[in-house]
Amino acid sequence: MSAKNIWTHKGTFLLAAVGSAVGLGNLWRFPYLTGENGGGAFILIYALTIAMVGIPILIAETLLGRASRRSPIMGMKYLTESHGTSAAWQTIGWMGAAAAFIILSFYSVIAGWAIHYTWLLFSGELAGADSETIGAAFGTLLGSPELLLTYHTLFILASGLIVGMGIHKGIEGSLRFMMPALFLILLIVLGYAVIVGDAGAAMRFLFTFNLEDLSLEGWLQAMGQSFFTLSLGMGAIMAYGAYMSSEASLTRTAISIALVDTLIALMAGVAIFALVFGAGMEAGQGPGLMFVTLPIAFADLPGGSILGGIFFILVIGAALTSAISLVEPVAAWLVERFGMSRPLAVTVMVLGCWALGLLTVFSFNVWEKDSWSHALFGRSPFDVLEFLTNIMMPVGGLLIALFAGWALTREEVLREMNTNDRWFAVWQFLVRFIAPMAVAFVFLRTIPQIEG
Ligand code: PFF
Ligand code: NA
Repeated sequence: MSAKNIWTHKGTFLLAAVGSAVGLGNLWRFPYLTGENGGGAFILIYALTIAMVGIPILIAETLLGRASRRSPIMGMKYLTESHGTSAAWQTIGWMGAAAAFIILSFYSVIAGWAIHYTWLLFSGELAGADSETIGAAFGTLLGSPELLLTYHTLFILASGLIVGMGIHKGIEGSLRFMMPALFLILLIVLGYAVIVGDAGAAMRFLFTFNLEDLSLEGWLQAMGQSFFTLSLGMGAIMAYGAYMSSEASLTRTAISIALVDTLIALMAGVAIFALVFGAGMEAGQGPGLMFVTLPIAFADLPGGSILGGIFFILVIGAALTSAISLVEPVAAWLVERFGMSRPLAVTVMVLGCWALGLLTVFSFNVWEKDSWSHALFGRSPFDVLEFLTNIMMPVGGLLIALFAGWALTREEVLREMNTNDRWFAVWQFLVRFIAPMAVAFVFLRTIPQIEG
């Protein structure tokens, strides 16, 4: 494969994978899940899962991408055919691409909410508003298909534009500028939160634990979150891994990605809870933590409109660098398989996701209840899609672990991993036994929820 399909620098994969990993999962999902599940105990299980399951699978998924140097679908076809293993493993590629497609469709709608809040805060409209007004503003946003559709369209267009410009000019170029800027914004927001909020209470909430606070449900959510936050099992990491320099170390890179992703989730957690506790509110607010509770805190803090607006720019930017990693696997496949030009392939992918996103847009208003979806599944189309990906992620991860651990030959694995690496044996043990067992456990526990 020509150098045109390799990242420019040895370290670019790390930058791109961190861009993919750090997103709504860190800023929105991690804090509210932690808030709902008793704080420190949740974080303890989450950190354990990241180390024992997340990192080994992250290494495995990157390895599959780099060993095949193709998009996930074509890459798995190549790996199974050239090594005479069962074609059933190609499910990894297909399911990954399908999951990327579905996730982008709703990720874009939720990221769109942040566009609305950036505007609400900067305009000063929420300054001094009471909690009912701010709660109602969220309701108004969700109740408006027009607003949701406008933001969804804007957001997905932006991701398409970046990926359409290619992996060098588009993806690398935007990440090199956006990632440091986003980190700087996070530092500013954190500094502000520590000064005006109650950082002590936030730290106590996040870092003291009482294992009894953690239900089995919380345990499962911690595991699910560790997949989502590291972008695992959806082809994104495999697609980026296909462009990774052969010189970069898989283990060191994967550990760095996990550390940075966790650090950012914790920084966001400290900032958000310092503001929320400082304003005398509760942690366990669910998905509304970022869109209702936090704006209430900003509304009555000095400089809250400006800092709140800046915070939501961070949310949009982080979501954008994740969304582009969801466009890439399918777009790259369309280019390889059908010989499409990159702009055409990206257009096809983005149009499809945009259309599927309508299911999510209407889930919050016209189809909120009593719709066909509730009659069929007992839940909204958005809940169905989210549920589907919650199954696809662990299954994809499980298959990736098994394929890299058992189906690839030792020679193939050693070509990508360094033998002298003392982590090699540890990785192999985790990917062969521990990760599959942990994932199977989560998966079997998720199935009964189909009823719920
Ligand atoms: N890891 C992203 C986050 O934490 O927001 C979400 C994500 C991006 C999941 C890309 C999967 C993916 F392929
Ligand atoms: Na993340």
